[in-house]
Amino acid sequence: MFSYRHAFHAGNHADVLKHTVLIATLRHLLQKDTALAVLDTHAGTGLYRLDGDFASTSGEAAHGITRLLEQPEQALAPMLQDYVQMVRHFNGERQGSKLRNYPGSPALLHHLLRGQDHLRLCELLPVDARALAGNMLQLQELQQSMGSKPCQLQVLTEDGFAAVKRFLPPPSRRGLLLCDPSYEIKSDYGKVVALIDESLRRFATGCYAVWYPIVARHEAHDLPKRLKVLAEKAGKNWLHATLTVKGGRQLAGLPGSGMFLINPPYVLKESLGQVLPQLVQWLGQDKYAGFTLESAGL
Ligand SMILES: C[S@@+](CC[C@H](N)C(=O)[O-])C[C@H]1O[C@@H](n2cnc3c(N)ncnc32)[C@H](O)[C@@H]1O
Repeated sequence: MFSYRHAFHAGNHADVLKHTVLIATLRHLLQKDTALAVLDTHAGTGLYRLDGDFASTSGEAAHGITRLLEQPEQALAPMLQDYVQMVRHFNGERQGSKLRNYPGSPALLHHLLRGQDHLRLCELLPVDARALAGNMLQLQELQQSMGSKPCQLQVLTEDGFAAVKRFLPPPSRRGLLLCDPSYEIKSDYGKVVALIDESLRRFATGCYAVWYPIVARHEAHDLPKRLKVLAEKAGKNWLHATLTVKGGRQLAGLPGSGMFLINPPYVLKESLGQVLPQLVQWLGQDKYAGFTLESAGL
């Protein structure tokens, strides 16, 4: 069915952008005590071994998270410091730029959420869903053994695009949705737009974060434009950040990616204004490296 396995890409430049934004967004939402409901529609396996067969074959982390670990931590913008410290947390005592583990979005979310919060993780590929369930169980047990109450967790082997019908709006009326498909099927782009459209109708005050690849495909090019139209039609603020690390057409691999947020934290744009130039400086691979940052209503 699917050939995409996130383990090949864990810790690459796209994960750096996505997870840095995700952590900062969640931290902001967690400033209030009221329960938060988080839905990760395309979860992957949650935790990745960077010394395992998948990741070491592709070596993508070497051009992503590893580059940041090579910088003196105090040189990093605060949002990047937070991200790097979180990744280090999943590597125990290991320091330096050699990592064994890379936390995916489920592990990061689980680490930050509190006992009163809900985390729902959808992963359609059964083998990855089983690995996800095992990894999350371990994280829950670890947290309990350290005396803290883990968040209320559900791992679902189901289509994340359909999950919004069941889970939105959340009873607490506070929620974050991360939509991070692999886009290996062209129809994923249209499904993302339909998902955000439906989500905004069901739960207009939710915070929505969509990751997408910057590739030479008109569906990818149109996606942020279509999301802007939806946000503006609903009268919602939006924020759009992209990071390109190399010239696209002639080179192998993903040249860049974007994060599109609806109802983003109001502080995020300013913080990203510091983060993105640093990512271009340290993750950029050629003269085409660059970033964009735009918003409405902020
Ligand atoms: C880009 S990866 C997710 C990475 C993860 N969000 C992270 O940041 O660590 C996308 C995942 O979605 C899964 N997937 C594909 N179609 C899906 C669907 N319709 N519903 C749920 N999961 C799906 C794939 O098997 C893959 O593991």
